[in-house]
This record gives sequence, structure tokens and C-alpha cells, in this order.
Amino acid sequence: MAITERRLSTAVLVIGTGGAGLRAAIELAEAGVDVLAVGKRPRDDAHTVLAAGGINAALGTMDPEDSWQQHAADTLKEGYLLADARTVEIVTRGAARGIDDLERYGMQFARESDGRISQRYFGAHTFRRTAFAGDYTGLEIQRTLVRRAEQLGVPMLDGVYITRLLVHDGAVFGAYGFDLTDGTRCLIHADAVILAAGGHTRIWRRTSSRRDENTGDSFRLAAEAGARLRDLELVQFHPSGLIAPENAAGTLVSEAARGEGGILRNAAGERFMNRYDPDRMELSTRDRVALASYTEIKEGRGTPKGGVWLDVTHLPRQTVMTRLPRVYQLLMELQMLDITREPIEIAPTAHYSMGGVLVRPEDHGTDVRGLYAIGEAAGGLHGANRLGGNSLIELLVLGRITGQAAADYSLSLTAQLRSASAVAQARQEIDDLLAADGPENVRALQRALRDTMTEHAGVVRDEEGLRAGLAELDAIEERMRSVGVHPDIAGYQDLAHAFDLRSAAVAARATLEAALERRETRGCHNRSDYPDADPSLRVNLVWSPAEGITRESVPDIPEEISSLMREVSTRGKLVE
Ligand code: FUM
Repeated sequence: MAITERRLSTAVLVIGTGGAGLRAAIELAEAGVDVLAVGKRPRDDAHTVLAAGGINAALGTMDPEDSWQQHAADTLKEGYLLADARTVEIVTRGAARGIDDLERYGMQFARESDGRISQRYFGAHTFRRTAFAGDYTGLEIQRTLVRRAEQLGVPMLDGVYITRLLVHDGAVFGAYGFDLTDGTRCLIHADAVILAAGGHTRIWRRTSSRRDENTGDSFRLAAEAGARLRDLELVQFHPSGLIAPENAAGTLVSEAARGEGGILRNAAGERFMNRYDPDRMELSTRDRVALASYTEIKEGRGTPKGGVWLDVTHLPRQTVMTRLPRVYQLLMELQMLDITREPIEIAPTAHYSMGGVLVRPEDHGTDVRGLYAIGEAAGGLHGANRLGGNSLIELLVLGRITGQAAADYSLSLTAQLRSASAVAQARQEIDDLLAADGPENVRALQRALRDTMTEHAGVVRDEEGLRAGLAELDAIEERMRSVGVHPDIAGYQDLAHAFDLRSAAVAARATLEAALERRETRGCHNRSDYPDADPSLRVNLVWSPAEGITRESVPDIPEEISSLMREVSTRGKLVE
């Protein structure tokens, strides 16, 4: 059979058509730089559409005393001092401009009766600074960015699966992939590449990511290209994932439900946050609420299905219908449950990769020349606990800055060397998988890997479990040598799953090795064998396939910001 290969060339290739990728592409197009955006999912249904409750900026529309400095202080404090203060400053300073950009592109925000943008509380923010569009904020942002990119004529290709970044002598020169429908290969030459293909939370069994998203693609692509990964062990478990139905387990119930006054109860009806964070209760940080729920369930006070109750039945029906419309619809659709009358059964769900590709804060460039990473693909803003609403603003601010940096890089190149052998290797990799006819099923191995991560690298971890997880991963990788890959008349999904599995294995190894090395409890990373934070581990754990884990120091926090960091009581934060 003749293999067809489509050849494309552009100044800047953006991999991923979610909010981060599109915002970068818009910046490039507005600057008149040639750009191409490709994504494996339909752009209208990128993962960003699932981001629900809001986007943060210290606009002060509700609480005029708010400031970017206070936003930065909250982000750093609640990230347990592992975030990069430079990244935090860039994002919080630039946040108001990010909201302006969205308004300029026509985004509809919820407003007060006098026209001010409404802002609500999200967990652990000092002030109301989360702007929103009902609980469809991510969907509205994605629609707005797609519309703007289309107005600018940005070429966007859906259904293209990138398998490898093309690198010569430490510089990227494009990417290779295939079309998910008909298998046509794609060779894309580019001066610069922006990686915006998400994180790795789909490698846990209960996750707020859908089937083929957040499978760790960004991390494998970057690591194989020569970039390094930081802090992959820092995975945010969101407290409110659905338990049922089984095929939708982990689906997110927005934190907006707690932001609007929702209450958490155990099976005995106790408002259990009293025991874990009596000051902030349900508006505590996600790591603490998730650990609290986990502990209630583990100690036998959970619901029959192994969860806790999230109750909004006391809220006015009007509040639910206008501020939580998606949660209302979701529960009707999935469980035929009317949340204005009955509580929701929830449990922690893997939600967000707070680590990611190691990047420079100022331009999000990586160790590979011409390669940039943004959004959930990159690390730096969140530390060991992300504040809800910070990821959407990150896309806006860093998408703009990274777009500019990639444009400058492309314009600065006078020549670019390519490597025929790098292209041949990328072609061969696909050929080999398509020829694979072994007995192991790719989907079954993905399931085995998710079981391993769930069992050994969930909300609470320990040395024995993490070592067992690594041994299981070795066995899964051994079985991966004998997979069979069988695209069929419906398309090349089986080939995509085989690459997803490879990505998941790389992401899992980096996560397990870093989780083992972080012998302390900090934020989302709960080690039952090391229940306290260790000041000597206030470092970033950086991983590469060749070197494993190395430690990098965390930059100092400027006094202007550190002086605003309030002491937070840790009373009640217990790892058993
Ligand atoms: O709960 C939520 O609405 C999620 C928001 C976020 O992850 O930022």
C-alpha cells in the first residue's frame, strides 16, 4: 500500500488547539507571523471547554482592595512555596489584560446589574476575583478564541495526531504525525514549535479528563526531544468528581458549587470540613478538601458508593439555575438527579498536572531551541496546589507572551538546519507500530497503567506503594513490546492509542520517580510515611529519561509579595 504524506511548512507550529494554543496562535497571527495550529481533538471540543467555574484576575470589581500582588501572594502561599515567583508575577500582573483581551474578542462574562464583571469566591482566595460565565467559563473562552482565530484566518487542523518533534542539533525544526481519519502522514516543517497539548491526568482511573485527552503527550514529546520535566508528582485531585455512572466516573462538579455556598457532608450528615480546616471550611484549598474527603471515605464515614455528599439544596433555586447551570444539567443528564432537591455523591478525581515541561518563566522556552510549552503542558505557576481559576488566566497571559517569543525567535533565524534522519526515524516509528501484530491489547494496557497509578500514586502515597507502582510499570512496559495495532475502516484511533500508551508510560515513570523522591507531605503530595513538609525539599524535582531526578532550587519571593502572604492554620491537615 502506498503511504501518502502531506508536507506542510509554517513559521510557528502550535500543537494543541485548546485555550493556550489558540491564544498563542492569535498573538502570532495578529503580529503577521505565519502560524499553523493542529490538534488531535475537534477544536470546538478541546479540553478547555470542560473548565467550568471561572478565571482569575484582581479586577477589584467586587472587592476594590484586591491587587495583583495579593493574587500573587495567595498563589504562592497556597502553592506551598513551590511555584516560580517570576511566573506568578507575570501571570497575576498580566491577568487584567488577559480579561481585556477576552472582552475585546467578544466574550460574554456574567455581570452585576450596573455592568461590572461579577467575581466570585473560589477556594483560598483572599478576595472575590474569579470572573465567570455561569459554570461554562471554559466553554465560552474556547468559543471566543476559536472565533477570533477564525476571524484572523489562522489555519487549524483538527484530527492530527503528533507523534514526534523533529530536532536537529538541539533545535526543533517541526513535527511529524498522522491524520486520525485516514492515516495520512503529516510532515510539518516549522521554525518554532509551541507545545500546548495538555497534561497527564487521564492516566488515573477516576479523572476529570475524557478518554483521549491529557494522556501525557506533551511530556513524552518534550522529553524525547531533549527537554526536561518538572514536578510531575504534583497532581491536583479535585475534591468533586462524580462517582456514577461508572463510564463517567471522575467527571467534574465545579468548585463553583462550593464557591456559591455548597456544603460537604459525610454519610452521617456531619459537615466534616470542621475537622480539617475549621477556618475556611468548604472554601479551603483543593488539596485539603480532597484529603479531607479521602480520609472520611477511608475511615468508613463515606457514602454507600464510597464518596461524600455535596449539598446545594439550601441555595435559592435561582442561584443554582444561573450560577451553576452546567452542574444542574450534568446531574440531570447523567443521574436524573435534581440538585436543587438532592445532594450530589462525589469523591476526589485526578484533575490537573501542576508540574510540566521545564520552561523559562519569561518566554516559556525549553532546553530545546525553538521549542516552547504552555498551559497544562508547562510547569511553574501552581507549585504544590493550584488555586481554582488560575489555569484559565494562565492560558491567556502566557499564550500571549509565548506567541510573541516564538514570533521573535522565528524572525531572528537566518537559516535552519534539518535532519533527514530525524524525519526517517519518525516515519519508521509509525511503520513499526502499524506492523505490530502481537497479542497485547493497547487499551487493556492503558487500563492496567491507570490501575497502577490509582493504586499507588493517588491522594495518599508511600514508599512501598510507589516502589510497587514502578515494578508494575516495568511489567507494563515489557508487555508494550508485544502490542498489536489494528487501525480499521473507522480510522486510526488504535494507532493513536498506542502512542497515547507510550506517552502515559513516560508520564507515569516521571511521576512515580518524583513522588518517591519527594519524601515529605506538601500540598497535593501526601506521603503517609513522611507526614510533614521538609524544608530541604522546597525544591523542584526535574526529570529526564537519561538523568532521572535532579533537584533545582526555587527562586526567592520578592518582599512586596511575601509581605502579603497570610499565615494559614494547618490545624486539621492530617495524613494518617
Ligand atoms: O472546579 C472548577 O470549576 C475548576 C476550575 C479550575 O480547575 O480552575
